[in-house]
Amino acid sequence: MVVLVSGSGTNLQALLDAIAEQGPDAYGAQIVAVGADRGAIAGLERAESARLPTFICRVKDYGSRAEWDAALAEATAAYEPDLVVSAGFMKILGKEFLARFGGRTVNTHPALLPSFPGAHGVRDALAYGAKVTGCTVHFVDDGVDTGPIIAQSAVEVRDEDDESALHERIKEVERSLLVEVVGRLARHGYRIEGRKVRIS
Ligand code: GRF
Repeated sequence: MVVLVSGSGTNLQALLDAIAEQGPDAYGAQIVAVGADRGAIAGLERAESARLPTFICRVKDYGSRAEWDAALAEATAAYEPDLVVSAGFMKILGKEFLARFGGRTVNTHPALLPSFPGAHGVRDALAYGAKVTGCTVHFVDDGVDTGPIIAQSAVEVRDEDDESALHERIKEVERSLLVEVVGRLARHGYRIEGRKVRIS
């Protein structure tokens, strides 16, 4: 798989740790490259420490969003992944990317979709006054966090929570869920029937 990151990369690290502990054969997957939309992030350092190839596609280096998207798709395709994992990648994947990797790109989102999609899922759940939120691992489609749901975990909101405390508790659960889901998809195979994901 190719993993896409924009930030601290703790989800990437969880995948790296699981593969290192279990071995790629037992886990069912290995990471062939890590891509980012920006430089100087811990996510890329984690990839480099694991001696993985990395690539960066910055939107500002391209004439349009569509050109950036095509370049990201091309850079990803160079590693011939079976699966792409968007693990804290803070950009919407576009037409060209989805034409190549639709149906095999997984995203992790820090809320219980379809509630609180978008870039501020934790902040929005807190502001709404939700008592339970969580995380969702889903396939990416052409909407914002709208693709078929693979798995979810719930996290209770505490009265004293601020955005960062709640996000940290969600991320603990999110990392385990992502590791579990990616391993299951890779080991067992899957099909997407409408909105239903069947892991066979
Ligand atoms: C995760 O909560 C992800 O769902 C959100 O950003 C966070 C990324 O964390 N979009 P990390 O970079 O994997 O540490």
